[in-house]
Amino acid sequence: MTVATQFTRIPHPAPATEQARADILAAPGFGKYMTDHMVSIDYTVDGGWTDATVAPYGSIALDPSAMVLHYGQSIFEGLKAYRQPGGGIASFRIDANARRLQNSARRLAMPELPVELFIQSIVELVDADNEWVPKAGGEDALYVRPFMFATEPGLGVRPANSYRYLVIASPAGAYFPRGVKPVSVWLSTEYVRAAPGGTGAAKFAGNYAASLVAQAQAAEKGCDQVVWLDAIERKYVEEMGGMNLFFVFGSGPDARLVTPSLSGSLLPGITRESLLTLAADAGFAVEERKISTEEWQKKAKSGEITEVFACGTAAVITPVGSVKSAAGDFTIADGEPGEVTMALRDTLTGIQRGTFADIHGWMTKL
Ligand code: PLP
Ligand code: COI
Repeated sequence: MTVATQFTRIPHPAPATEQARADILAAPGFGKYMTDHMVSIDYTVDGGWTDATVAPYGSIALDPSAMVLHYGQSIFEGLKAYRQPGGGIASFRIDANARRLQNSARRLAMPELPVELFIQSIVELVDADNEWVPKAGGEDALYVRPFMFATEPGLGVRPANSYRYLVIASPAGAYFPRGVKPVSVWLSTEYVRAAPGGTGAAKFAGNYAASLVAQAQAAEKGCDQVVWLDAIERKYVEEMGGMNLFFVFGSGPDARLVTPSLSGSLLPGITRESLLTLAADAGFAVEERKISTEEWQKKAKSGEITEVFACGTAAVITPVGSVKSAAGDFTIADGEPGEVTMALRDTLTGIQRGTFADIHGWMTKL
């Protein structure tokens, strides 16, 4: 990788001991433990991107009037660094994450970090925290979280003139505590996540804040996750909390996959897009279209919909086993992980973990 920007390395005075790191890597959970370092880059309208550093992970100082704290300009990305069988480390479609951060930035009137600088920032952090990347051969990986927020002090409502971009990382195991066991979902008709013309297609912090009350409602109903519906008719399925959704119709070689089309108010998941390709490679028909909760319920009950799964970087591929809603409850087939779901999961994770051929050129050596 060519070095476009010089990053200043500030060595950690007391990195985690080998024992402390080994204890964390033995059972990392999701998002609980951070690695030793973080990347930081500042941006000002006049000076552009400056002060690229890899520094010890730690608190940051913010002016109490920093615009992010008042008007919420804050966006993020999520990707993983996977240990490869030979010991190296690689990421999956890192350029797509870089471009999505730029798209999110445009929607929130924030500056666009150049793709090369995004990639380099992650190369630098993974280099500093190499030993935090879980070993090959398992389900674990290093979850990398790049994010950017407005730092300019002041209470005027307008796009800020200064921002900070940070990258932190956290060793990650299964996103759901029960692993690949099917999750239960609540169809949210009271709350909506995003409306046409809103911020739903951006990875914008506020979308997640707006989702929390509905997630709490789902938990009250005994469900693991919320499924969001379209804001206007509250009829068409959009996505889950941090995952896109796929519906499998039929079974065996005749199985067809349907995923909600990109409505403008759901996040264009990189896993979603990759699975559309991998499913087509495997000979399945794939369709991006609207799917209503009525169709879901009717066809799950008739047996035409045989599997439903959620997909995303953190959750990989997680089967959906049962659905609750104000209109009634139902299960998908026998509520167990389906064949197509698990076959696609094997292919995707095989590519990411370097045990299957990367025929689409999706992996980048870090
Ligand atoms: N939808 C939402 C709301 C998300 O937060 C995510 C996670 O990033 C996804 C979908 C899946 O996107 P990806 O596959 O790029 O991780
Ligand atoms: C991801 O899969 O990267 C996500 O962002 C989901 C969630 C942790 C917000």
